[in-house]
Amino acid sequence: MAKREVWNSKTAFVLAAIGSAIGLGNIWRFPYVTFENGGGAFLVAYFVCLFIAGIPLLMLEFSIGHMTKQAAPGAFAKLRPKMQWFGWFAVGVGFVIVTYYAIIMSWSVNYTWEAATLGWQDNMGQYANVEYALETTELEDMAVLTPVPERFWGTEFTDPVDESLYSIQSTGTFLVAWEGNLYAISSLGNADTFMSSPGDFFFNDFLGLTSEPWDMGTFRWPLLIGFIITWVWIVASVWKGTKTVSKVVFYTVFIPWGLLILFIIRGVTLPGAEAGISYYLTPVWSKLLNADIWLAAISQVFFSLSVGFAIMIAYGSFLPKKTNIAGFAIVIGIADALTAFCGGLAVFSALGYQATKMGVHITEVAQSGPGLAFVAYPHIISNLPGARIFGVLFFLMLLTLAVDSAFSLLEAATASVKDKWKLSHKKANLIVGGLCFLLGLPMLTGSGLYILDIADHFMNSFGLTIVVLVETIMIGWVIGAEKQRDYISDNSSFRIGQWWSICIRWLIPIGIIWMLFTEISARETPYGSFGLRSQEFLFGWLIMILLPIVSDLLANAKGKGKFPENIE
Ligand code: PFF
Repeated sequence: MAKREVWNSKTAFVLAAIGSAIGLGNIWRFPYVTFENGGGAFLVAYFVCLFIAGIPLLMLEFSIGHMTKQAAPGAFAKLRPKMQWFGWFAVGVGFVIVTYYAIIMSWSVNYTWEAATLGWQDNMGQYANVEYALETTELEDMAVLTPVPERFWGTEFTDPVDESLYSIQSTGTFLVAWEGNLYAISSLGNADTFMSSPGDFFFNDFLGLTSEPWDMGTFRWPLLIGFIITWVWIVASVWKGTKTVSKVVFYTVFIPWGLLILFIIRGVTLPGAEAGISYYLTPVWSKLLNADIWLAAISQVFFSLSVGFAIMIAYGSFLPKKTNIAGFAIVIGIADALTAFCGGLAVFSALGYQATKMGVHITEVAQSGPGLAFVAYPHIISNLPGARIFGVLFFLMLLTLAVDSAFSLLEAATASVKDKWKLSHKKANLIVGGLCFLLGLPMLTGSGLYILDIADHFMNSFGLTIVVLVETIMIGWVIGAEKQRDYISDNSSFRIGQWWSICIRWLIPIGIIWMLFTEISARETPYGSFGLRSQEFLFGWLIMILLPIVSDLLANAKGKGKFPENIE
């Protein structure tokens, strides 16, 4: 019987799992979610969810893989033959996620170049339109004016020039010198007629974003270059399975950590950094009573720890017989949370600097998602000495953070295909990677960001949560939580208490059912300007309907040989 591949060492496994967990979610999602949900209070909710849901689920997924020696489809088929489809469903959720995740990576590849050449500054100086706008519109009518304190005048971007009309733009805020005073203007109604903002480069010049999802605009050929580089890199990193991964993770974990430390030091030594950090961390305790903060914390924990993606089951299946499931899960969970926390320090200190410099409130400069990584942060570093080098290093950090998350998913899907059809690793790898590449191509058009947003929303709100819910019901209620707890304890350096079974049987499923209920019932406009029932969201629902159908087809397709195989 074939011998299953195993990790080169314990360290290789721990680093691979940490690498999968630490990704873009830690740098652009965590800081913003923390800030939006009460700063320090959210951290409390986050750590509670980490210990109640995240770490127990990591133990659960590692143990399923370790016990069955199969990736998700084979693992669930071994537990209950009828459940093979569910394993494919979990792989499918991950597959959709990696498809759009690679798009974000490809933007980072292109932006590394833009950073080196300061390309995004190309359209920063279109002041002419301001005069036109001010001539044609009453300034007071357009916006809320906030005088900028005089102590901020005279810096590079904040100089009212001889009472003439003059304008500069910061992140989402326009500064206008008018009659000898300097004003910060927020919420401009007609920003279009006004001038270009830093976001314009990203949304217009770079992405060619159309005005609505149904208009695909043009194919962005320059993005294809970054996209190809991204996929070659991802596929090459898992070319020989755990053998290659075991080596690659030493770089893809330690390089971004090193860079993150650099950015924290750079960030906290900037003038005004304290303002950002205190905003990030000041606890608003009353928010702990608000349900939203807990919902945000659970979904952040799932995404960040890569649970519900079928990844940790596959990674667990490559563990040798003698192992330490519980210990590894705790180390990995804490390492991920600490990295996210440090990501927040780096990001918020820079935002604090920017807000202080512009004399505006920090909410004016803080954005999440693409807005943070591709608009706000580049804009801030491009005003610092050493802009090019910091810009390049920032995108290298994002890329090295993201690549091991992306290849962990590719590896999970590849292992599933390989287990079932007994293909060579390379062949399976090329098939899965090639498919993700093809499905990603529509996201290189002018409506790419809309497609990405919708897929992201559905996979996070419904995909991951459904996978985790079924996992906990199956293990907690059908197979038996106590039985699984014994298995984990027998394969760890210490025994885990009954708390684990309580989390798996009760706390996690109840939390998820509540989450799903809230999502479906209460929110009319859960994402940007899209309503959950609006026609844009048909696309999201379509993915959710197709996933189980395709999963069922894959489960019923004839595999090669006996599946799931008993591998010693
Ligand atoms: N844990 C990852 C993160 O926080 O970025 C989530 C992830 C995304 C894992 C995409 C894998 C992946 F392909």
